[in-house]
Amino acid sequence: MLLRSRITGTGSYAPEKILTNFDLEKKVDTSDEWITERTGIKERRIAKDAETTSDLCLEASKRALQAADMKPGEVELIIVATMSGDMPMPSTASLLQKKLHAKNAAAFDLNAACSGFLYGLSVADNFIKAGTFRKVLLVGAEIMSKFLDWQDRSTCVLFGDGAGAVILEKARGPRGILSTHLFSDGNLWDFICLPGGGSQAPPSAKTIKDKLHFIKMKGNETFKIAVRTLEKLVIDTLRENNLKPSDVALLIPHQANLRIIKATAERLNMPMNKVAVNLDRYGNTSSASIPIALDEVVRSGRIKRDDYILLEAFGAGLTWASALIRW
Ligand code: UT7
Repeated sequence: MLLRSRITGTGSYAPEKILTNFDLEKKVDTSDEWITERTGIKERRIAKDAETTSDLCLEASKRALQAADMKPGEVELIIVATMSGDMPMPSTASLLQKKLHAKNAAAFDLNAACSGFLYGLSVADNFIKAGTFRKVLLVGAEIMSKFLDWQDRSTCVLFGDGAGAVILEKARGPRGILSTHLFSDGNLWDFICLPGGGSQAPPSAKTIKDKLHFIKMKGNETFKIAVRTLEKLVIDTLRENNLKPSDVALLIPHQANLRIIKATAERLNMPMNKVAVNLDRYGNTSSASIPIALDEVVRSGRIKRDDYILLEAFGAGLTWASALIRW
């Protein structure tokens, strides 16, 4: 019997405060019509000033642990995929470990931006298959709202805050993570970046004045590459698993733009009722978008035992990634 990793619990959490497109119309020169047509987003969640990324992780993790019927002390590894952690050091995973009282776990963060959850899934899967860890908590969590220039309409309307978590456990048999596929092209690093605050441009009065601590994105250029790359990625992922698009019960894409999601579904000839979409309610939550969508479809009973689930993401790096799961 093949040794695999299997998702045994999911959980998610988003801050209570809702910011609608109509609220944004009052802040910047934009309209509900533009945002809806170009992105599919209607509203997003925004964290409170005092709320941190590890706080969102904590709520999502508690729910995932409960679903997996696991105690925090049983967790052997915590991975937090994030690009908006509580602080550069220590890791948000270590801060989550403290809040969760998961005292027996190793902990680290992983940054692959919007592809972070799928990169984390691959790392967790390989640790489990290698026998290094048996029980892993993987969280994708972001507070994007604290890194947005609320005067820049080309970025501030796109993103939102939230967290999604999964528990992965060692399992035998045909069900579980079947394959993961990771890619990056660092030549295109400046398509989406947050240039200030690191060793290239340490925090200073000038970096603040120049707004280097906010997310910058070449939206249209990124859009074109995302569509092309994801179309190839999903086809290659199915081919490597000897599956046809019609074998897939549900596509769970990263939630950046409904037009990108539709283009990928069209390439697979998949009707939209086989695609998980929630960006209308959350916007782009980067590494949190796939695990939030996964938790929603699990809890609503939309996926069943033995279903094939295809996950894909694209984001800063540039990075892109996919995973095929037999549920
Ligand atoms: O998650 C990580 C990966 N990220 C992505 O995959 C994002 C990919 N990119 C996108 O989703 C889209 O490119 C955007 C939604 C960001 C933008 O849509 P677009 O169709 O590519 O629009 P555009 O950037 O080409 O801008 C079209 C027009 C411009 O005006 P002009 O130059 O035609 O007069 C913009 O200034 O829309 C204008 N515009 C806006 N208008 C109203 C840009 N942002 C806004 C806005 N409201 N918020």
